[in-house]
Amino acid sequence: MLNTVGSRYVRYSLTAAVSVFLLIRPWPEAAQTQTVEPNQVGLTLRADQPASVINRNIYGQFAEHLGRLLYGGLWVGTDSKIPNTGGIRNDVIDALKELNIPVLRWPGGCFADEYHWRDGIGPADKRPHRPNASWGGVDTNAFGTHEFLRLAELIGAEPYINGNLGTGSAQEMMEWIEYMTSDSDSTLANLRRQNGREKPWKIPYFAVGNESWGCGGNMRPEYYADQFRQYATFLKNYSGNRIQKLAVGSHDNDYNWTDVLMQRAAKQMDGLSLHYYTVPSGVWEHKGSATDFAEKEWHSTLARALRIDEFVTRHSEIMDKYDPQKRVGLMVDEWGTWYDPQPGTNRGALYQDNTLRDAIVAGLSLNIFNNHSDRVRMANIAQMVNVLQAMLLTDNERMVRTPTYYVFRMYKVHQGATRIPVEVNAPQYILNGTSIPAVSASASRDSAGRIHLSVVNLDPNRSAIVKARIAGAMVQSAAGEVLTAAAMNAMNTFDGADAVKPRPFGSIRVAESQLNLSVPPKSVAVFELK
Ligand code: AHR
Repeated sequence: MLNTVGSRYVRYSLTAAVSVFLLIRPWPEAAQTQTVEPNQVGLTLRADQPASVINRNIYGQFAEHLGRLLYGGLWVGTDSKIPNTGGIRNDVIDALKELNIPVLRWPGGCFADEYHWRDGIGPADKRPHRPNASWGGVDTNAFGTHEFLRLAELIGAEPYINGNLGTGSAQEMMEWIEYMTSDSDSTLANLRRQNGREKPWKIPYFAVGNESWGCGGNMRPEYYADQFRQYATFLKNYSGNRIQKLAVGSHDNDYNWTDVLMQRAAKQMDGLSLHYYTVPSGVWEHKGSATDFAEKEWHSTLARALRIDEFVTRHSEIMDKYDPQKRVGLMVDEWGTWYDPQPGTNRGALYQDNTLRDAIVAGLSLNIFNNHSDRVRMANIAQMVNVLQAMLLTDNERMVRTPTYYVFRMYKVHQGATRIPVEVNAPQYILNGTSIPAVSASASRDSAGRIHLSVVNLDPNRSAIVKARIAGAMVQSAAGEVLTAAAMNAMNTFDGADAVKPRPFGSIRVAESQLNLSVPPKSVAVFELK
């Protein structure tokens, strides 16, 4: 992936059956700030090649009991003066609904392996207060199973529950599922009814532990594979519920973990996870600032974010060895940027600001997941509100949408659409002898026949003059949105919430057989072609 010596141009074969010519005015800001030659980029959209459906779950989210994500960010309680629905803040619900979030993972993360579900049901004043051993502070358990499943319903997401393997038992896990999903006259189903929920919930995704190679128990893959087989046996399907059983997978380039899990437990699982965080410096002790950075950190962050392509490719190859039919999904259920904590905040709260750089990371990562949708069936960015690469930040009653939020809103058009392979012929973006592709792209066709093309220009200095040809489809009109800003570290703040926001791309003319786009430096753009 990282090419330190290669030529400035990476070449791919270009073919086209039918093309469209779109003339697009350069982005005005880009035209003003542009001082260097633009990059010339060729894209070929292979609408003539059958490809996989982009599982909508690739646009999933993650909400852990951590920092101010649940308490303050989502949950304010019914007595709060912040407008809320059953204790969940309305501004956050409304903003999240705009993203069409398909799936939401909870309660962790590392927290999952210390969470006991019985603590979080029944009258709130009777619930025990427990230390949050992973992230600090005390959890009042005001937010528990009912509150989470209400939240999922309110934002229209399917629930993905992460069970406790590290400090729980197979019996505890089995009973949690019975409590949530059984429509019988059992004691646990009746306890759920007594706690206010008559109808059982549907729980489509359930994982056995989290990061069991680390915070979830420091297990060896051989031991975890056996544990998974045992626990998965007791993830029962009650009352028509059908659980997809997810196993703890690897992180980064730990390929042995994937090999052992697939060899020993592929039959028992529906999905295997993968975690990867983008740390600008690559050093966990000194990750780098979220907001105070120069082009060196811009480049290294994007270079590290792009590595997920290599990891997904290699883990997928191992999975193919044991599962050539691709029955088992690769679930990238934690990904995103991770910086040094925001100065003045509690270290364990993992609060970080979110800039245009994060938007670029989101766009190129989602392109990678779209392009691997034959195996990647779910991805959950970490995390939804106030933690790591968040969609939303809150400060008491105030809330702000981050640049990453807008990328998720722009990209939702790919959810459930059929991928169109894109051949990219792009120069490299080189800094200090290290090179990465200047442009990333993905495309899909939705059920109404509309084609969507996402283009990320990673280069902060050069526009990309993109000539896009479409093989196998006729296109008559196009429109687009672009997200960019003058500064690499531009961000939305509580006092300036609209600094980084998508804007219409400008007039687009379609002519003949080619699409010509001038994509501004450091931007994410999504086009709809009809
Ligand atoms: O997302 C923060 C933490 O990162 C999660 O709790 C854990 O699974 C991972 O190490």
